[in-house]
Amino acid sequence: MNEKRSSFSGSIGFVLAAAGSAVGLGNLWRFPYLAAQYGGGIFILVYIILALTFGFALMTTEIAIGRKTGLSCIGAYKALNKRFSFLGYIAWSVPIIILPYYSVIGGWVCKYIAVYLTGQGAAAADGGAFFGAFMSSTAAPLGWFLLFLALTAVVVIAGVEKGVEKVSKVMMPVLVVLIVGISVYVLTIPGTMEGLKYYLLPDFSKFSITTVCAAMSQLFYSMSLAMGIMVTYGSYTRKDVSLVKAVNQIEIFDTGVALLAGLMIIPALFAFQGEEGLTSAGVGLMFQTLPAVFGQMPGGSVVGLVFFVLVFFAALTSSISLMETIVSMLMDRTKLGRKMSCLVVFIVCIVLGVPSSLGFGVWGHILPLGMDFLTFFDFISNSVIMPIVALITCILVGWFVGTKAICDEVSRNGEHFGRKALYEVMVKYLAPVCLVVILVFSVLQGMGIIKV
Ligand code: TRP
Repeated sequence: MNEKRSSFSGSIGFVLAAAGSAVGLGNLWRFPYLAAQYGGGIFILVYIILALTFGFALMTTEIAIGRKTGLSCIGAYKALNKRFSFLGYIAWSVPIIILPYYSVIGGWVCKYIAVYLTGQGAAAADGGAFFGAFMSSTAAPLGWFLLFLALTAVVVIAGVEKGVEKVSKVMMPVLVVLIVGISVYVLTIPGTMEGLKYYLLPDFSKFSITTVCAAMSQLFYSMSLAMGIMVTYGSYTRKDVSLVKAVNQIEIFDTGVALLAGLMIIPALFAFQGEEGLTSAGVGLMFQTLPAVFGQMPGGSVVGLVFFVLVFFAALTSSISLMETIVSMLMDRTKLGRKMSCLVVFIVCIVLGVPSSLGFGVWGHILPLGMDFLTFFDFISNSVIMPIVALITCILVGWFVGTKAICDEVSRNGEHFGRKALYEVMVKYLAPVCLVVILVFSVLQGMGIIKV
């Protein structure tokens, strides 16, 4: 890995790039259905607390490690401590697990672009049956999944990520404005106030350790933490950028988009299906509830089309960044060239993605750990491997490298590191203990020993 590192032009460039990678289906698709399932307001409260403590500590650590060593994940962990180079490999396995099922969902987004383009928006507005029929069929979801994955691969092979990034930088603010607009409209639909209460007011009787586990997995996923991504971004960051500010801005932006996405979906779910909607909320939520909203909205078929196109770009930038991570690592570690590496990754993704796509239909009877394939892969990466990576990172920094090295990196411009004490306690004590607890509960939950 001796190519010269290009760097971001400045703080704004860095924040936008990191936020661009962070904002994706995690915010729009995953956050709302977890919030619906895990008690609404209480889930959000737990999520925000975790973001301000764990998220802040981990993101600061990862970006600082990257900037300090100037290396991406495998090299960076090794440079800090030879015995920890294995951590880079574990972190690297996460994108390999995520990308295939990410592309399955990306395929669903493509399908909905086609639905609105061909004027089927009204048919899709039935609150779930349309989507259920699509998701449980065989050829259609597979085809859309392959299309999305192929698009990602084409962009990565052609090396035109920069072009896509430019487009999506324009699209992202538009997406945020549209989400705000849709949320405002949703709140005018009769019956949404109950849902808004559910979404915003924490009900402590709904709190349990599984809420924390789910919120933590979402935090890792949404902020692209615990997989070495932020280390790589950090390595491209100029030394004069304020890490404290950058971390705050990325966190606020990412969480803001997630909260808005929930605001657009959950109150509407309540209005259409009442409380029962919550129990049936799952991976299809965004595709079931939103078309129903668009169906009521004046001009809804245009709004639906624009919305899914914007989501498509948010998803594509994330999937490109996921594939790029895997490919560049493969190129570093093997003698394969760029094209060959992309091809290998493409094939591996097909092999892993097909079960996720078929798991809602013909392979619906195969249930690893009692979950459909997509949920299974999601669980293994976000609830098992990521907490392990986060735990080992904290141990590495807290007990081997020392938090001082990170704090020095953060305040190398003489900048005041306001939450330094919190940071040190988090990384050394609090985070490792909590992560072990969360890991144990996640695994018990996965094995069906405790229930949601
Ligand atoms: N954070 C992204 C999202 O919210 C998903 C993601 C996870 C990701 N890990 C990543 C994106 C790595 C790019 C690179 O959708």
